[in-house]
Amino acid sequence: MAEVVIVGSVDAAGEVAADAIEQLVLRKPRAVLGLATGSTPLTTWRALAARNLDLSEVRGFALDEYVGLPAGHPESYRSVITREVVEPLGLTPSLVRVPADDGPIETAGVDYEAAIEEAGGIDLQILGIGRTGHIGFNEPGSSFASLTRMKTLTEQTRRDNARFFDSPEQVPLHCITQGLGTIMRARHLVLLAFGEAKASALAGAVEGPLTASLPGSVIQLHPQVTVIVDEAAASELVYADYYRYAWKNRLAWEQI
Ligand code: GLP
Repeated sequence: MAEVVIVGSVDAAGEVAADAIEQLVLRKPRAVLGLATGSTPLTTWRALAARNLDLSEVRGFALDEYVGLPAGHPESYRSVITREVVEPLGLTPSLVRVPADDGPIETAGVDYEAAIEEAGGIDLQILGIGRTGHIGFNEPGSSFASLTRMKTLTEQTRRDNARFFDSPEQVPLHCITQGLGTIMRARHLVLLAFGEAKASALAGAVEGPLTASLPGSVIQLHPQVTVIVDEAAASELVYADYYRYAWKNRLAWEQI
């Protein structure tokens, strides 16, 4: 079962996620991180940047990317990752990959999988969750075994992401995303969710049932998952009291 950590604020969640990354990097300076975009991980990046760790050897793989935006578009996930993660954390730009950032789109999925494998696999994958239950851009119906590939975004996701663009029509129709199978190969998943709008998807992901109709539910099959949520996102969890009790009584030697 996932370790569910219910915290009082989005900032507190960022500190818990940063603890997990810090513990990893101190143990393994050349750690491989899976990087998520969106608003959810922002306090994690901020908390981590404030710790002034040497992250210059860390390698990074973004979860997903839009397809069809002009190169250098400020809302491409390449630009977002550079602006919000690489620069503030002091990562080495050449060690951070984004799907389809190198070579033809037709082989980008296979190439990305090979690059992750060559790096030794992802040690810790940061995840947000969409209101459709997507992780990465794996929209409902995505196979639990899927690997990095192109997908078509749902209308719901395009509407949700329109806030980053001048108009909803500018949100691309297509994307390339690590698959659910790719995400499942990461050694540790850290899923963050905040606000009431995420409560239903989050409860579905953590407490089931397991279904490709709610892609985030695949995390129930992973041996090491940490779910960090605020009270609003936790509001539909049936076992919330148990999660609080387990977190309060965790043993000192237990790592996040
Ligand atoms: C986006 C991203 C996901 C992200 C999710 C939630 O579309 N592709 O990686 O986790 O949807 O976004 P946000 O964190 O902005 O709510």
